[in-house]
Amino acid sequence: MPYQRKTIDPEEIKKQQAICAEIFERVTADGQRPLAMVDTYGCQQNEADSEKLRGYLAEMGYGFTQDEFQADVIVVNTCAVREHAEMRVLGNVGALNHTKKARPGQIIAVCGCMVQQEHMAEKLKRSYPIVDLVFGPHELWRFPELLKRVMLFKKRVFATAKDDGAVAEGIPLRRDGGVKAWLSIMYGCNNFCTYCIVPYVRGRERSRLPEDIVAEARGLIEEGYKDITLLGQNVNSYGKDLASPVDFADLLRAVAELPGDFVVRFMTSHPKDATEKLFQTMAECEKCAHHIHLPVQSGSDRILKAMNRHYDRAAYLEKVKLARRYMPDLVLTTDIIVGFPGETEEDFADTLSLCEEVRFDAMFTFIYSKRVGTPAASMPDPYTRADKQKRFDRLTELANRISGEKHAEYEGKTLRVLVDGETGKEPYNLSSRTNGGRLVHLKGDPALIGQFVDVTVTSSNTWALYGEVNA
Ligand code: 5AD
Ligand code: SF4
Repeated sequence: MPYQRKTIDPEEIKKQQAICAEIFERVTADGQRPLAMVDTYGCQQNEADSEKLRGYLAEMGYGFTQDEFQADVIVVNTCAVREHAEMRVLGNVGALNHTKKARPGQIIAVCGCMVQQEHMAEKLKRSYPIVDLVFGPHELWRFPELLKRVMLFKKRVFATAKDDGAVAEGIPLRRDGGVKAWLSIMYGCNNFCTYCIVPYVRGRERSRLPEDIVAEARGLIEEGYKDITLLGQNVNSYGKDLASPVDFADLLRAVAELPGDFVVRFMTSHPKDATEKLFQTMAECEKCAHHIHLPVQSGSDRILKAMNRHYDRAAYLEKVKLARRYMPDLVLTTDIIVGFPGETEEDFADTLSLCEEVRFDAMFTFIYSKRVGTPAASMPDPYTRADKQKRFDRLTELANRISGEKHAEYEGKTLRVLVDGETGKEPYNLSSRTNGGRLVHLKGDPALIGQFVDVTVTSSNTWALYGEVNA
């Protein structure tokens, strides 16, 4: 049976909003504004989900705080991609014992990818009695209803049933800042890379309708957002589940052709599905950033096969060549996993040589982390953590050297950047991003935030560029 894309009836979302209004009456009855804290771990998709949680909370009458001792409701939005993130979540949730003691009646919710794993939901149930509400990514659209149940019945609520997921439109969003915005275009993943937990916790790929996405983008531009990132686990599969023949390149063009002064970028692209049409569209559309995050994961054909990535080293290099032919100024970033089960010195040497060959602008490097229930978890893994750490350090050193060299090439050049915030540090008090997404520190008037300006790059290091605003 082919997967049928499920949508949540808009009436259901209206019901959730009606519950928000009920909660509003209840929590503001004493004339005081209650406070909520949303703590987010992991990827941009989770950031985008937290914007929905905040949207609902704002409708319920909550203001926001970063201080867990002040919060009446705490929502911890978790990540499951690596063990390290899970350990941090558990440590931080455990520490909320103190805040709950100091503030009886405080409601603690834990949601997101980590709790969608059965063993983690169990762990929270058994060992973290301070947690009142646990819900997985598929239940986010009904957060108000779940919270109301906790408030009314003073009982713990667990909502983490297995689910392929649905598309829900109309959830209120509360975005932070006014310059950069995440825009989810699809959810889930069908790729089942053997190391990855995402397909198990976020369900099957499902696309939002192009008209909903374009309308949201138009709204963002009208509100003054200048940098829009289209988000999906694998944006290149966009549209495959829709009745209309629209693909990701078409969607990108539709957004990039909206009127207004802005840049549009996207995350993440699976190399197997990155097409020539996509590169051509990026090259042709003036408002499309010349940046691709194209996770290679490994440079070894043997490991790529074991990872179930559906491309080999040569095919990846070809894609890069093609993309650069269309965009000679392309900024290319990647993800790499070190120490996948059975990765030998020789395999690792292939990763190093691929990185030397491609010369990524930035690399996000991770030591393999075993995920319960994934195929890689049961593959033989003879190498020690110390071996992997040594490889990781060598790769980091290479990544830093190449980033530093690439950054140095910008020195003396004039670029158009978007000023996106303050650094809180002198003398370079402003931060900005190039079209390709590289960070440029500037000296200047904070009134420039949200504006595109021309700058001359004066110096650089591994992490960033430094520049002067042109007069
Ligand atoms: N261990 C280490 N890194 C992982 N990633 C995904 N799953 C794992 C894992 N089990 C990395 C991949 C992916 C990025 C988001 O996280 O490189 O591209
Ligand atoms: Fe995980 Fe692979 Fe899907 Fe990315 S494409 S989310 S690495 S399974």
